[in-house]
Amino acid sequence: MTDLISRDKEFIWHPFTQHKTECEPIALSHAKDASLFDVDGNEIIDLISSWWTITHGHSHPAINDAMMAQANKMSHVMFSGFTHEPAVQIAESLSHHLGGNLSKVFFSDNGSTSVEVALKVAYQYWQNKGEAQRTNFIAFDGAYHGDTFGAMAVGKGSGFFTSFDELLCQVHTVPYGETWLGDNEVQSREDTAITALQKTIDQHGNTIAAIIMEPLFQGAGGMKFCRPEFVKRVVETARAAGILVIFDEIATGFGRTGSLFAHQQCDVKPDMICLSKGLTAGTLPLSVTVIDAHIFDAFLGDDFSKALAHGHSFTGNPLACSIANRSLALFEEEQTLERIKAIEASHQEFAQELLSHSKVKHVRVCGSLLAFDIDESDAAAEGTYKSETSLKLRDFFLAEGLNIRPLGPVVYLMPPYSITKDQLKQGYEGLLKGLELV
Ligand SMILES: Cc1ncc(COP(=O)(O)O)c(C=O)c1O
Repeated sequence: MTDLISRDKEFIWHPFTQHKTECEPIALSHAKDASLFDVDGNEIIDLISSWWTITHGHSHPAINDAMMAQANKMSHVMFSGFTHEPAVQIAESLSHHLGGNLSKVFFSDNGSTSVEVALKVAYQYWQNKGEAQRTNFIAFDGAYHGDTFGAMAVGKGSGFFTSFDELLCQVHTVPYGETWLGDNEVQSREDTAITALQKTIDQHGNTIAAIIMEPLFQGAGGMKFCRPEFVKRVVETARAAGILVIFDEIATGFGRTGSLFAHQQCDVKPDMICLSKGLTAGTLPLSVTVIDAHIFDAFLGDDFSKALAHGHSFTGNPLACSIANRSLALFEEEQTLERIKAIEASHQEFAQELLSHSKVKHVRVCGSLLAFDIDESDAAAEGTYKSETSLKLRDFFLAEGLNIRPLGPVVYLMPPYSITKDQLKQGYEGLLKGLELV
């Protein structure tokens, strides 16, 4: 362990890490199902699916086999001027699952970039349509959409990116109609949010290109939940003003909320949807922006001027696409949505215990996600991702063999779907012990 850590320390700059104050990383040797194993053989239950990526479990044999089979055929090829079966197949399948006119799939490599693509497509769509004044976006308070520049701009409501404020494009933020278990005021909170959205549209409507939203729950901005009705009202309000709707389902997609995609519970469809993380079962970097065919049509022309000038070296990587195909098939073969239902039932049972806990407020459960806020704590006052309390809790959980990383005062579990009952129980017990610390 020590040798690897000292080499890491000498050469590596980790993401979202304050290297001066944070503990050393844990050196891992392997991972299986819902567990990580360090080089000394200690097990850590991955209760947050490694940044919400792992769906069917770490090192799933079917996924590994698909990757090896594809590696033996073709690992990579440029994606302009060439195509291949794994990319076409995943595009067909996603389009089939999403339905409607969501039939044009643009590949990229991570969540941030798929958001960047959606924003660029929206912006250029209006130029191509002769409405070049539509250059601004609407996003939600508390939203996180990634950390490239466009994604930071629409995610400025997360509070992560204040250092870059001056460089970000124009975005109007509106309140998210959040809710939790036992919330009696949700209707008025939603009404206030919709009124704010309508006011923004009334003031800036014909300059807005698109609105971007995480349906059913906001992830990194604090695991805030909203009702399907709220998502529907947002979409209807935006559409009435001709504004394009982008759903960021990078965190909510692939079963996290109990359905394959969160918006399928909301009786609405977006004009574009961003997917990543669970797309490859959390195994390789891949993302897609799935786009309504009528938007795609606006990029057709007799020369390049209307085309989308965007693409990356690893766009449509065959290895990643082949895994995405295998992962989607596993949802049916392993009846994954049923497994998620069982996790949700278990969360609901534990939530009843949390509801009466003196240090807990705003308990919420949706699919495989359980979240709550710590009440009466330093963390609530500090309120940031890297607050001292959340770091203290994170270290405590790790010492207990649990990978749980609070977001400021927000504590949550979002395990891989292969988690066992016993592992979930260990997670709940760890949460209760952790609460004694605050
Ligand atoms: C909702 C949402 N959008 C976008 C992103 C950015 O994805 P990535 O980290 O793969 O760039 C994330 C990452 O957590 C996310 O949760």
